[in-house]
Amino acid sequence: MKFFSIFILLFMVNSVVLANGGKTVFETYCWGCHHQTAEAFGPSFKEIASKRGADEIRGMISDPESVSKILGYKRNAMPKFQLNEEELKVITKYILSFK
Ligand code: HEC
Repeated sequence: MKFFSIFILLFMVNSVVLANGGKTVFETYCWGCHHQTAEAFGPSFKEIASKRGADEIRGMISDPESVSKILGYKRNAMPKFQLNEEELKVITKYILSFK
């Protein structure tokens, strides 16, 4: 029982870290062009979450020039970001949390 509680606690702490990490990445790199629920220069995270999966989101961040075409954009206005694996993971999770 004690072991189980520790497991749950660790799981909760981990989720909080992941959620906050995503918000930090968002505020650092994306906020100028994307907002959480309102459309800005780019589409809102809410809109993105409603129509894309994790692979499309990751692809768009790492290689917007090719992936924007796959997603149906004629021109690409999003800069390329070199995020590390952890940052990619938390920002993708953060975007999808707006579903
Ligand atoms: C300079 C402005 C700018 C910044 C900064 C920016 N984006 Fe974008 N983003 C855009 C625009 C504009 C689009 C629409 C597609 C296009 O024009 O290339 C877009 C599209 C996207 C899409 C695909 C939208 C769809 O149709 O599903 C994702 C996912 C995305 N951005 C994620 C991010 C993330 C995550 C960050 C931060 C790491 C970020 N963007 C930073 C401008 C920006």
